[in-house]
Amino acid sequence: KLDLKGRDFIELNDFTAEEIEYLIGLAVEIKRKQKNGEVYQPLKGKTLGMIFEKSSTRTRVSFEVGMYQLGGHALFLSKNDIQLGRGEPISDMAQVMSRYLDGIMIRTFGHNNVIDLARYATVPVINGLSDLAHPCQVLADYQTVFEKKGKLKGLKVAYIGDGNNMAHSLMIGGAKLGMHVSVASPAGYEPDKSVVAECQEIAKETGSKIVVTASPQEAVKDADVIYTDVWASMGFEEEQKQREAAFADYQVNEELVKLAKPDYLFMHCLPAHRGEEVTADVIDGPNSVIFDEAENRLHAQKALLVALMA
Ligand code: CP
Ligand code: NVA
Repeated sequence: KLDLKGRDFIELNDFTAEEIEYLIGLAVEIKRKQKNGEVYQPLKGKTLGMIFEKSSTRTRVSFEVGMYQLGGHALFLSKNDIQLGRGEPISDMAQVMSRYLDGIMIRTFGHNNVIDLARYATVPVINGLSDLAHPCQVLADYQTVFEKKGKLKGLKVAYIGDGNNMAHSLMIGGAKLGMHVSVASPAGYEPDKSVVAECQEIAKETGSKIVVTASPQEAVKDADVIYTDVWASMGFEEEQKQREAAFADYQVNEELVKLAKPDYLFMHCLPAHRGEEVTADVIDGPNSVIFDEAENRLHAQKALLVALMA
């Protein structure tokens, strides 16, 4: 058992491969307990604050239900309903909230908001998605891959589309875990160069291969996992039309997936737009594991909450 109590969860690069594998293993174990109807409440009396600057279905519901199932309580704090929306400094909010809460989850635009919150809070801070990273999603994603394939090391993940928060966290997590991650993005929408450089550094030690290419065909070739995400993330809605043009050749469809291994998994963090980044025949087809993946948000987050807060 590893001790992660009191740690923040901001991006996967703050964690060792052993720690990430531990969290995934704990998620599998917590899922098993729940399926067996075992009551498991190590967070009795604990409270999680959940700050949302952006919309959410999965993150909100899974954290809230997860806290309840673990014996604790979660508060939904929409930006517009707390003083943050009226300009209260994050540093003040962090110190005040630390006097009431045992943990804080935040979904925000600027990644620095998560870092600032963690700097001033004395309780664990969890990144529930920033413009740079979505590590909670990737814990659930690699848990899902592990359950389906029985291993992670050496598997090839192809990410097709916007070099966004999902691309970054999949690359960092993959590099740590010794997976090969190929990202195919159109010019101007590549993943952040410093994140790629950091992943390549990590990859040197883990035997992982991190590739950024403009070719979806190259990325998908012999892939074990094909992953995509929306073309216009939250906050970029006004670029929708321009992005539809830029990403037209980056759709995951029947023709593209033929290049992957026959038993490839199709994954998507959701919400998805059928007919844009992925066709209905692929996302609703036999290789798609999107609902197991979405379910695992609950189990992976419960593992994280237990590890940081129990
Ligand atoms: N995948 C994900 O984070 O979904 P929500 O935006 O619905 O939380
Ligand atoms: N890249 C998407 C992920 C949503 C879960 C966004 O940031 O909107």
